[in-house]
Amino acid sequence: MSNRMWGGRFASGPAEIMEEINASIGFDKRLAPQDIRGSLAHVAMLGKAGILPAEDVAAIEEGLKAVRGEIEAGQFTFRRDLEDIHMSVESRLREIVGPTAGRLHTARSRNDQVATDMRLWVRDTLDDLDAQAADLQRALAETALAHAGTVMPGFTHLQSAQPVTFGHHLLAYVEMLARDRGRFRDARARLNECPLGAAALAGTSFPIDRHATAAALGFDRPTANSLDSVADRDFALEALSAAAIAAVHLSRFAEEIVVWTSAQFGFVKLSDRFTTGSSIMPQKRNPDAAELVRAKSGRVIGALSALLIVMKGLPLAYSKDMQEDKEGTFDALQTLSLCLAAMAGMVRDLEPVPEVLKAAAGSGYATATDLADWLVRELGLPFRDAHHVTGRLVGAASARGIGLEALSLDEMRAEEPRITAAIYDVLGVENSVGSRTSYGGTAPANVRAQAERWLGLLGQAPA
Ligand code: ARG
Repeated sequence: MSNRMWGGRFASGPAEIMEEINASIGFDKRLAPQDIRGSLAHVAMLGKAGILPAEDVAAIEEGLKAVRGEIEAGQFTFRRDLEDIHMSVESRLREIVGPTAGRLHTARSRNDQVATDMRLWVRDTLDDLDAQAADLQRALAETALAHAGTVMPGFTHLQSAQPVTFGHHLLAYVEMLARDRGRFRDARARLNECPLGAAALAGTSFPIDRHATAAALGFDRPTANSLDSVADRDFALEALSAAAIAAVHLSRFAEEIVVWTSAQFGFVKLSDRFTTGSSIMPQKRNPDAAELVRAKSGRVIGALSALLIVMKGLPLAYSKDMQEDKEGTFDALQTLSLCLAAMAGMVRDLEPVPEVLKAAAGSGYATATDLADWLVRELGLPFRDAHHVTGRLVGAASARGIGLEALSLDEMRAEEPRITAAIYDVLGVENSVGSRTSYGGTAPANVRAQAERWLGLLGQAPA
C-alpha cells in the first residue's frame, strides 16, 4: 500500500530497506510532546484566522489531546511505516476524529514542523542543563567555602608551582560553569524564533498569523525568512558547541579527580557511593564515575562534529540529511545532563585530605616565588636578580635533598648577604597563600569572599 500521507502519486509502497533507512520514528518519538504542542498552537491559529471553522478546530484539538493522553499513558503504538512523529500523530488523529484530521496540515509542512519541534526540545533541554550547572556550581561553592583555607599544591605543567587553596581550585570550575551557563543562555536567546508557518520552504498563500503561533509557543518572534526557517540548524549546533565546551570542563575536573584519588596523590577520598571495586585486586577503589565523565565528553564533541559535517554541504532549503540532527543532539545533551549530575554527586561526596594536601603543597620548592618576592620587597632587588638568587638557593637545597626552610641563615647569606631571619616567615605554605591577596588571588580571605558571593548569587537549590 502506498503512504496515506503523501502516497497520491505512488502505486506501491517502499522497499523494506527504504523504509528502514527513511524512518525516524525510532528516535523522534521523543518529540511527541513538542509536536502536539506545535499542532495545538497551529490549529488554534487556523481557527482564529478564519482558515478552519470552529467545529473542526475543536474536533482536532480534542483529538490531539487524546493522542497526547495515549502517548503519556504508554498506550500509543509507534509504527515504522508511518516514518516519523509528525505522521504518527496525524495518522492516529485521523483514526480518532476522522477525515477532519486532514485539515490540520493546512498551511504547514513537516519541514517547518520538525524545525519547530526541535527548537522547542533544545530550548527545554538548555533550561534543564542551566539548572543542573547551577546545582554543580552550588556544590562546588559550598565545598570551596568549607575549604577556603585548606592549602594544596597549585600546578603548572603538572609540576608543583605555588601553593593555592582547595577552595580556590574548586572556584575555578565555578567560573567555567558560569561561562557555560552564559553560552546556554546565549544559544537559547538566539534559538527563540519560531519557524512554524514557513511551510515547506516558501511560506504559504493562507492568511496565517505567524506572530500568534510564535507567541503561543513562547517564542520571541517568528523567523523572518522561510527558506532559512526550514534550512537552519544553527540552534542545535550552538547548543552542541556550548555542551561540548561544558563537557570539556567537566572532563578536566574528572581527570583531576582521577589523579587526586590515586594512591600516589591521595589528595581526596571518594566514598563507597562513588567508587567501584576490582573483581581481582581487592585493594582497588576505582573512580569510575569520574573516568566516565572524562570519556563521555568524547560523545558530546563527536555529536557537534557530526552535525557540522552533515550541514556543511547542504544547499537550501530542507534536505533529508537534516533528519540526522536528532540522535546526536538528543544523545549529547542527555549525556551532558548525566555528567553534570554525576559531577555534582562526586563534589558533594569527596573529602579532601588536608594533611596530605599541605605536605604536597610544601614539597617541590613551591614557595620559591615567595622567597624571590621577599628579596624584591625587602631588599629592593630587581625581580630578575631575585629570581637568580632564589634559583641558586633552590639548587643548594636540592643538592642536599632538603627544603628551602631547612637552609641555615648563613647558607642563605652566602648567596645574598642582606637576607635576614624574617625570610623564614614567607617560606611556610600558609603564609604563601595568605599573601596572595591580589584580586582573584588564592588568599583564604579572597576565596571565602568569592565563595560567599557565588552562594549568594546562586541562592538555594530549587526544592
Ligand atoms: N522526519 C523528518 C526530519 O526529521 C521530518 C521532515 C520531513 N520532511 C520531508 N520533506 N520529508 O527531518
